[in-house]
Amino acid sequence: MGGAGETSRNNVAPVSRHRMPCIRIVEVLPTRGDLFHAAAGEFVRAGRGAIAQHDRFTVALSGGSTPRGLYSLLAKDHADFSWSKTFLFFSDERHVPPDHPDSNYRMVNQAMLSKVPVPAGNMYRVLAENPDASAAAADYEEKLRGFFKLRPGEFPRFDLILLGLGPDGHTASLFPDSEGLKEQSRLVIANWVEKFKTHRITFTFPVLNHATDVMFLTAGADKADMLKQVLEGTNTPPFPAQQIDPTGRLVWMLDEAAAAKLSS
Ligand code: 6PG
Repeated sequence: MGGAGETSRNNVAPVSRHRMPCIRIVEVLPTRGDLFHAAAGEFVRAGRGAIAQHDRFTVALSGGSTPRGLYSLLAKDHADFSWSKTFLFFSDERHVPPDHPDSNYRMVNQAMLSKVPVPAGNMYRVLAENPDASAAAADYEEKLRGFFKLRPGEFPRFDLILLGLGPDGHTASLFPDSEGLKEQSRLVIANWVEKFKTHRITFTFPVLNHATDVMFLTAGADKADMLKQVLEGTNTPPFPAQQIDPTGRLVWMLDEAAAAKLSS
């Protein structure tokens, strides 16, 4: 696991205090299937741009159920993509072994990794089988620091981070009222999620917000209420998904069911 591609410091972001807000794009697609096609197009577009610019594409994948359709489509229609120059990480992981039904790695491996020619050395999974969630988080942070050749205080700049939206407004595993929301120096933490009585290993806001592009995939009527609050509401405190502000583009890929309550 890992090792390849650890050469350039192209994707290193100095701590930036003052910068332009990101470009926010909201795309509403008729169906979930259309959403996955549009998301695959965005993935390939971002990948080609990154590879043209710095000869590699660094991506953090999201878990949950929604992105499985994207991963399956990438495996089916984009097997010829530049997987040898693509480096895959996870924006969060459940504190379970890789063969556990709740494992994000397991889902992505079944849907895509086992089907596309991505070199094993380009795949960085969280060692979530470690019974000590904090140690698993620290290990993953070291992997990020090594891969991106970070100096103290620096953050990685992923070319693309995929995220989802939870019905409570969480994203990655940054849940409302959780300690992890306050973290401003570490890259990866073991965040205690009271309602699930477990830790989740997750990227922190600084990593998510130092990315070039972030793409949310949100589908289904059960997300419509929260989506309206996140995209149109001014909540105090803001929902975790409202605190995502990457350096480049923030793309919301939605299906009509999820977007049904948005003001036109
Ligand atoms: C996870 C995810 C989480 C997910 C949302 C949406 O590990 O569960 O990273 O943030 O994206 O909970 O999940 P669904 O796509 O299953 O609705």
